[in-house]
Amino acid sequence: MSANNPAAVIVLAAGGGTRMKSKRLPKVLHEVCGRSLVGHAVAAAQELAPEHLVVVVGHLREQVEAHLAAHYQGVRTAEQTEQNGTGHAVRTALAQLAADGVELDGTVVITTGDAPLLTGATLAALTAAHAEQGNGVTVLTAVVPEPFGYGRILRDEQGAVAAIVEEKDATEAQRAVAEINSGVFAFDAKLLAEALGRITTDNSQGEEYLTDTLGILRTAGHRVGAVAAADHRDIAGINDRVQLAEARRMLNTRLVERAMREGVTIVDPATTWLDVQVSYEPDAVVHPGTQLRGTTHLGEGCEVGPSSTLTDTVVGADAKVSYTTADRAEIGEAASVGPYAYLRPGAKLARKAKVGTYVEIKNSELGEGAKVPHLSYIGDATIGEGTNIGAASVTVNYDGQHKHRTTIGAHCRTGSDNMFIAPVTVGDGAYTAAGSVIISDVPAGSLGVARAQQRNVAGWVARKRPGTDAARAAEAAGAGEAQGA
Ligand code: UD1
Ligand code: CA
Repeated sequence: MSANNPAAVIVLAAGGGTRMKSKRLPKVLHEVCGRSLVGHAVAAAQELAPEHLVVVVGHLREQVEAHLAAHYQGVRTAEQTEQNGTGHAVRTALAQLAADGVELDGTVVITTGDAPLLTGATLAALTAAHAEQGNGVTVLTAVVPEPFGYGRILRDEQGAVAAIVEEKDATEAQRAVAEINSGVFAFDAKLLAEALGRITTDNSQGEEYLTDTLGILRTAGHRVGAVAAADHRDIAGINDRVQLAEARRMLNTRLVERAMREGVTIVDPATTWLDVQVSYEPDAVVHPGTQLRGTTHLGEGCEVGPSSTLTDTVVGADAKVSYTTADRAEIGEAASVGPYAYLRPGAKLARKAKVGTYVEIKNSELGEGAKVPHLSYIGDATIGEGTNIGAASVTVNYDGQHKHRTTIGAHCRTGSDNMFIAPVTVGDGAYTAAGSVIISDVPAGSLGVARAQQRNVAGWVARKRPGTDAARAAEAAGAGEAQGA
């Protein structure tokens, strides 16, 4: 990146998020399109390649720290034990950096952990303008249709930014201003530290407002600039679950539109949900009611949906997947899945394999062209190429304590309603009879039969169920007592 790389980005994420009304989850860990709110802030910040990235944590700190440690590298946290305001939060971050021996020189970007639509590009535009204009501080603003709750941007007669006033401290005339503070700033590091030393808690909330630094710097003769967001929706901050849903819808619209512009047909954008890390090839088609989650990838020309939820799943080119739930599965080229299939972790379908209706597959490989068409459970199994598994079959993989594997060779034809009691192996080209409980290996080319002999008790219905519809039907069919003996 250019010389615009900030010395630090500070993400404010310590607040209680009271309006989320959550007993268990900190606000910034709520998810939008497969990423936590704070994760969106960190991902946008990382696009600036800052020298230091600090997240200020407080409310349910342990959870936020564990989440950051698990998913994001190179992120430092600063603990704000009491949430005394955004100015106090930034001071806490600067104190942590100083304690860690970091001396900041250059630009410090401040952003919030609750604005998931904010992009790295918007942050980059802010830092670029900040540098170009030689400002002491530059605020990202937006003109919004509903400014209620936000800090308002006050400008002087020349149109220069004079100060920010919070909703609760604003006069009626100030509340009429539609230009708001996004909560995102670029500061000169030294001026930021100086101004933070001079803010007070003299306001209606008794908090240290970061926003007061703008008035302080301006009065001290420094340049205060503003950059308006290209789209006011980019800066939407989440305070409650209604806004969370709105933000998710807006981000999803963005993701779906990008997919369409890159050649994916999305039949119903309103009911198609994409996570930020989903990827695709051109000519993939997504039918209504489909959620593509995590790192799911759609191959060229595949068709997914309707009503399917795929998580961290790879769909091969030209594959077809309908009414399916899949988690960490690999679906091969031109394979067919569903309707009503459940692919669990480790399900690997080779080219042209088929998993049909009411079939569950777990930790199993299906070879090229192998088919499990109906009503079956295949777990911990290897099925060779060209093999057909009869309807209603189960690999009995669990003895109550341990899991065992079933291996079925290539080009086998197993009968309907088979139970394969694992560990067990069926050799290449073998057949098994319908209704078999296969407890021992079937050699290649053999027919495995494992079921009780049938016997027919002649005349049983006439004797034991006289006068019933069954007895009359049997009589009409000419069934005498002796017949079928
Ligand atoms: C803040 C701004 C307001 C702006 C709005 C944009 C101030 C005083 N007000 O108001 O001008 O329009 O954001 O969304 O800055 N936080 C901490 N520690 C604290 C307090 C807050 O880390 O002590 C964090 C919160 O977790 C949140 C962010 O700072 O991520 C903003 O705090 P919030 O309480 O949501 O501020 P607003 O009232 O929305
Ligand atoms: Ca807020």
